[in-house]
Amino acid sequence: MIEFDFVTGNQFKIDEANSALAQYGIQVRKRDDIEKIEIQSTDLETIASAALALVVQKVKGKVVVEDSGLFVHALNGFPGPYSSFVFDTLGIDSILKLLDGAKTRKAEFRSSVAYGEEGKLVAVFSSVTEGNIVTQPRGSNGFGFDPIFAPIWTQKTFAEMEMKEKSVYSHRSKAFSKLALWYLNEGSKKAKIKS
Ligand code: IMP
Repeated sequence: MIEFDFVTGNQFKIDEANSALAQYGIQVRKRDDIEKIEIQSTDLETIASAALALVVQKVKGKVVVEDSGLFVHALNGFPGPYSSFVFDTLGIDSILKLLDGAKTRKAEFRSSVAYGEEGKLVAVFSSVTEGNIVTQPRGSNGFGFDPIFAPIWTQKTFAEMEMKEKSVYSHRSKAFSKLALWYLNEGSKKAKIKS
């Protein structure tokens, strides 16, 4: 089994990454002993790359960080890169209130996964899942804005899905799948040539 260290304190992110990566013979190991520093930017790839550039100095092997956010169309992409802060300070009801009377409830989750090894940032993979903000929170699984987001292909919110089902749709699992395909086709060869 190929192993990457994943610098995060969020067990849901770990489980989701592992659910996506298992079919490729890759797994991530939680590293919550290292701090992930988030710079301010509106671009998740920039945030993930900057965080990776710092953690890759402290980890010996292959390492990943992920940055994600909920971008609500009627709110011009808010909370976007500030999703974690908005969730912690105002909660999911704040988004429902802001959308009261809005013409569209369209939204998207975005995820950017940065990968590095040997002290360097090597690659970044991003993905988007489009959906809608439902009118009332539904479901008790998952984390963050899961109870108010339903991907466009289903009425179910992420919080009404088991991990395996969320993995079919999620921004994070798609970004990690891109990483896995790249690693198996290109990344691992580069690593072998280097070592
Ligand atoms: P960060 O990636 O640690 O900066 O956190 C992004 C924030 O966006 C999380 O704290 C959640 O509030 C929200 N978020 C990102 N991905 C998801 C998801 O898959 N489900 C629910 N909320 C998410």
